[in-house]
Amino acid sequence: MLRRSGGLKSHFIGFFLTGFLMSLPVSASGASLGEQLVKDQCSTCHKFEGMSESRFNLKGPDLMWGGSKFKRPWLVDWLTGKEPNIYEKGYRWDIERKAQPHVVLSVDGANAVADYFEKQLMDSRVKKDAIDLSHFTELHAAFGRQIFIEHSCTGCHQIMDDGKKLGGPQSTTFFNSGKRLNKDWILRFNSMPPDFVPHSGEFVADVSELGLHYVTGFLATEGDDSFKFYKPWESEHFKNADSKRGRTIYKEYCMQCHGAKGEGDGPAASGLEPRPAIHAKMALDQFPLDYLYNVVYFGGKAVGKSPYMPYWGLTIGEQGVADVIAFMQEQFKGDASALEGSPAITQKSSGNCPEKRTTKKVSFKYNNKKNPLKPTTDNLKAGETLYQKSAKPMACKLCHGKKGDGKGPGGAGINPAPRNFTCTSTMKDISDGQMFGIIKEGSPGTAMPTFKNIKDVEIWQLIHYIRKFSQ
Ligand code: HEC
Ligand code: HEC
Ligand code: HEC
Ligand code: HEC
Repeated sequence: MLRRSGGLKSHFIGFFLTGFLMSLPVSASGASLGEQLVKDQCSTCHKFEGMSESRFNLKGPDLMWGGSKFKRPWLVDWLTGKEPNIYEKGYRWDIERKAQPHVVLSVDGANAVADYFEKQLMDSRVKKDAIDLSHFTELHAAFGRQIFIEHSCTGCHQIMDDGKKLGGPQSTTFFNSGKRLNKDWILRFNSMPPDFVPHSGEFVADVSELGLHYVTGFLATEGDDSFKFYKPWESEHFKNADSKRGRTIYKEYCMQCHGAKGEGDGPAASGLEPRPAIHAKMALDQFPLDYLYNVVYFGGKAVGKSPYMPYWGLTIGEQGVADVIAFMQEQFKGDASALEGSPAITQKSSGNCPEKRTTKKVSFKYNNKKNPLKPTTDNLKAGETLYQKSAKPMACKLCHGKKGDGKGPGGAGINPAPRNFTCTSTMKDISDGQMFGIIKEGSPGTAMPTFKNIKDVEIWQLIHYIRKFSQ
């Protein structure tokens, strides 16, 4: 009875509607045509009024709030057969074990239904602009994703993780939930799921207000390429940053750990392991703004570093963060004597080879991995771009140096030092799996950051490139 496309009946209706629509003003007729269609074609499976019910009494998801729930372009695509199923194992997984093709309408038919949804199926419980995502950053979305995973949401909903599906398929997939669902509807749903679907569970009930904002924003943006994440470091706050105000902030909030002169020797530093960063030795003027913003605003943990580095955003605000960064970048330009290319180093570049290496062994999950890629020109080139330029939160060369000698401007004065990739005697004993694990998860307690956003394939490309330095 269901057909994806080409069915005689749906063709006929599409044709019929097209002719009919042209002779009537769309605004007046759209809703009533839509209503007709919904009655004839949809109401055998979907409910459009009344109370929500258990799935086991239904043939398709309830649509009483369809006008508030869906983004129109997705709805039209879905109804014209252009979108993949949202229930991978079928809506009624108790009866059927696989997704069924859905009824398909003509474009005009789909638009008429969408008009009807917008006119008649708006849910007054869903407040317009109840959630403001104009200041939602990529890191916020990453927090939301983290909460989603930690609160078992992936037990029943699937998301994409580094190109692979993560989670179980009991309920809807969220691969492109940002294209399908309206943000305000998601917020209202998340606030009390049983208001919409009985037995859907209240797994967000113990998430904080802020957490709810993050997880909702994550779902509202996932897979939606048109969403523009907020970039604080491109905002007015940074254009108006004032290093004098920043100096005061540094004194009030940072000195107790980082020291009066940025030597990492403030009174509150004893007992902290890892130690507070020695700003005086770091070329902070070379560090990317987005990285500095994230570590100061959201704290060490948010960028894979120690939670001893607190989150300052809620205390000093965006302007305060911009100001203190302006101050640090003016004040801390690194340890000039240790800079790349300076005569002192060129002469003793063999000085730290073989290197003292105290790096922890990575977990067994990574340990035995072998590089699945060949060191082709393309792979080496891709590795080079990441290493020298594009890796986030920052390019590897910042610490490991342009030439791989561990003498990048951001690495000066760091203890333990960034690995010297040119040192064959040290590098030959470091396995592919070990490197993979360290790049994926960082080396806790050292300056080596976590690179969570780099895909597995890209890590392997990086490893091929890194090995070239010692060959
Ligand atoms: C034979 C039963 C059946 C008919 C008829 C039917 N649907 Fe569906 N519909 C379903 C099922 C089952 C799903 C879940 C699809 C999946 O697995 O992805 C669904 C999904 C949907 C969704 C997405 C729901 C969500 O929660 O994301 C919308 C919107 C929808 N249908 C609208 C319609 C409209 C409009 C019509 C009439 C033109 C219609 N359906 C006709 C069974 C039906
Ligand atoms: C035990 C299974 C289960 C878990 C765990 C779960 N959900 Fe659900 N979720 C459901 C069911 C069932 C529905 C109703 C839709 C349906 O009929 O499949 C639903 C629907 C949703 C919807 C509406 C999606 C849509 O397309 O209609 C959102 C949003 C949602 N859940 C978010 C979450 C979040 C966030 C978490 C974690 C805090 C979570 N869910 C955990 C079972 C679960
Ligand atoms: C309670 C102690 C403490 C305070 C107060 C503190 N920090 Fe930190 N900070 C740390 C520690 C510890 C680290 C090292 C984290 C690591 O290496 O994992 C750090 C690291 C940093 C880093 C370097 C991150 C990197 O990539 O190595 C910056 C920049 C920074 N802090 C800025 C600030 C600013 C600005 C303030 C004041 C607004 C501040 N810190 C206040 C403890 C503190
Ligand atoms: C902020 C400075 C910094 C940046 C940026 C950085 N590293 Fe590191 N890296 C370090 C430090 C410090 C170590 C030594 C860690 C240790 O000994 O535990 C290290 C160690 C390593 C190791 C050696 C692991 C081992 O077992 O010996 C590899 C491989 C590595 N980094 C790769 C990378 C790659 C690839 C990038 C860029 C995607 C990168 N690093 C960016 C500081 C950095």
